[in-house]
Amino acid sequence: MEEKKKYARTLVTTALPYANGPVHIGHLAGVYVPADIYVRYLRLKGEDVIMIGGSDEHGVPITIKAQKEGVTPQDIVDRYHKIIKDSMEGLGISFDIYGRTTSKTHRATASEFFKKLYDKGEFIEKTSKQFYDEEADQWLADRYITGTCPHCGNDGAYGDQCEACGTSLNAIDLINPRSAITGNVPVLKDTKHWYMPLDKWEPRLRQWILEDHKEWKTNVYGQCKSWLDAGLQPRAVTRDLDWGIPVPIEGADGKVLYVWFDAPIGYISNTIDLLPDTWEKYWKAPDTRIIHFIGKDNIVFHCLIFPAMLMAEGSYQLPDNVPANEFLNLEDDKISTSRNWAVWLHEYLEDFPGKQDVLRYVLTANAPEAKDNNFTWKDFQDRNNNELVAILGNFVNRAIVLTNKYFDGVIPEAHELTDYDRQTIEEFKGVKDELGKALDTFHFRAALSEAMKLARIGNKYLADTEPWKLAKTDMARVETIMNIALQITANLAIAFEPFLPFSAEKLRKMINLENADWNKLGSIDILNAGDRVETPVLLFEKIDDETIKAQTDRLERIKQENILKNFTPKAVAPTVSFDDFQKLDIRVGKVLACEKVKKADKLLKFTIDDGMKGRTIVSGIAKFYQPEDLVGKEVCFIANFAPRTLKGIESQGMILSAEDADGRLVVIGPHGEVRPGVQVG
Ligand code: MF3
Ligand code: ZN
Repeated sequence: MEEKKKYARTLVTTALPYANGPVHIGHLAGVYVPADIYVRYLRLKGEDVIMIGGSDEHGVPITIKAQKEGVTPQDIVDRYHKIIKDSMEGLGISFDIYGRTTSKTHRATASEFFKKLYDKGEFIEKTSKQFYDEEADQWLADRYITGTCPHCGNDGAYGDQCEACGTSLNAIDLINPRSAITGNVPVLKDTKHWYMPLDKWEPRLRQWILEDHKEWKTNVYGQCKSWLDAGLQPRAVTRDLDWGIPVPIEGADGKVLYVWFDAPIGYISNTIDLLPDTWEKYWKAPDTRIIHFIGKDNIVFHCLIFPAMLMAEGSYQLPDNVPANEFLNLEDDKISTSRNWAVWLHEYLEDFPGKQDVLRYVLTANAPEAKDNNFTWKDFQDRNNNELVAILGNFVNRAIVLTNKYFDGVIPEAHELTDYDRQTIEEFKGVKDELGKALDTFHFRAALSEAMKLARIGNKYLADTEPWKLAKTDMARVETIMNIALQITANLAIAFEPFLPFSAEKLRKMINLENADWNKLGSIDILNAGDRVETPVLLFEKIDDETIKAQTDRLERIKQENILKNFTPKAVAPTVSFDDFQKLDIRVGKVLACEKVKKADKLLKFTIDDGMKGRTIVSGIAKFYQPEDLVGKEVCFIANFAPRTLKGIESQGMILSAEDADGRLVVIGPHGEVRPGVQVG
């Protein structure tokens, strides 16, 4: 095996979230929680590491959001930058800096970067045709154009993508393109832009990734390989837009840097703001290690385009690894900001105060490391109640409570060890290596379950040795057991620091362990006999069904709202003649009685006053009405509908109802009193 490169420091970057909405659990599971675990782990080991983050504040989605709300793009990014920054801090994501791409430093850094490539002749200039809205006097980014999808016929397709069939599009492919600003038909005009010739860097990228970085995650390596095998094309790095960093050369009025050109440079400018004097060694020294934490939709930008920019610039190191994650779904549905289908971090922190670690735990245990994964509130509750409370919390609590009870809080001495003690100690001796190996290779789920194993060992040890039973007969033995239990507790305080920093800190305080030292992990002499523990505080508490139901009810409401919002009436059926219409004998009737049909959860049996001898009609609306609520109501029914037998009852007609967008049926009746039996027409 290739020998591991020695490194002196690590620069960890996390994808800069767009400041056009708050962050949600998908962002967290994919990027910020794993990055934070990794950085905390390196810090525990005493390594030199910095964690760089910030908001991505340029790009078209932000201008569209601003336009919709009638505010400026700056208003939008100010609002969301604050929400994102505060909520990440609330979750304990330990950025060394969380900056923004509207900062002065960033504007200067990105401008200079572009200028340097321009001066070196690294760009090609090309003129192409782009859509323009003459009334709005504005170039139209692909997102600003709507039209009919050439693939599926959806009328509301965007110039970059049809959300109905998922195809990515070019605006010029749309049928009947229209400006999203004025609704006018846009015109095509010539415009000049600067392009990165990615084809020129393809051989070097190929060597660097496909040959030199075979150790990258298979999802990342595979995506890069398929891009490279398809052949790279020149990519425009400028746009006609009035929100962004102006293109810093002459003859580029009204043009800005493409958001994907400036955003990754944000990692550099934020490092400059953090370390104005020493930032360069984190980016340029050969013994630096750069790691980008991102989601899978960002792979091409971080593995191909940004590296090509860095190669063209010439003085920077390339990333050592890009451990991209797949996506997290929510209750089996794709997370979506526009559909409000998400668990938003800032709302979680409000709804579950003090429970940051529960979310961190669940998102790590369920991290979409190798494939898309699913978050459900039921799983959240189960993992909290059955793992955090029942295993980790329970063990720690027992260890501290018993020490207080039997020894007044003083850590007892260990005497002679039994075989079982030795066997237990043996079981967690290897935890440091196992945990370290998993973390070093970005297997955070496996690492967490390794840490959890330690808690299980502790739990089992106390359950098996039952010190509470020995307290009357063999206090020396109890001393040994509790010493070992407390040493395991100290191990937990170290092992869980990267994953559950809030609980680990509480735990450290309980056992008066000043700081967690990774090197001590796996040993049984972390705490000294004679030192004290404090009174216990609960690390975790059960989450009840009601709390979970409030969350699932909220999601159910959102689902209904989305269905109703997206309702479009069906196309009108072929024309019918008056004669044909008259064949239907529609009448008004009064409900005399109504009851549920046995063994049929959809059916109601009606007795209808039809002005004649009355009739029975069975109707499939039981899910939407209480039978007694319909008694006395007037309804419309088809009087000459061919009789049918349903569940042994002859139904003599059909009651008319409207089906709402969400499938709910509403019975139709006259708006004013009429005699039962009169005709409708
Ligand atoms: N804003 C982008 C997204 O959310 C990520 C930008 S990452 C950076 O997909 F490298 F450009 F900073
Ligand atoms: Zn389509």
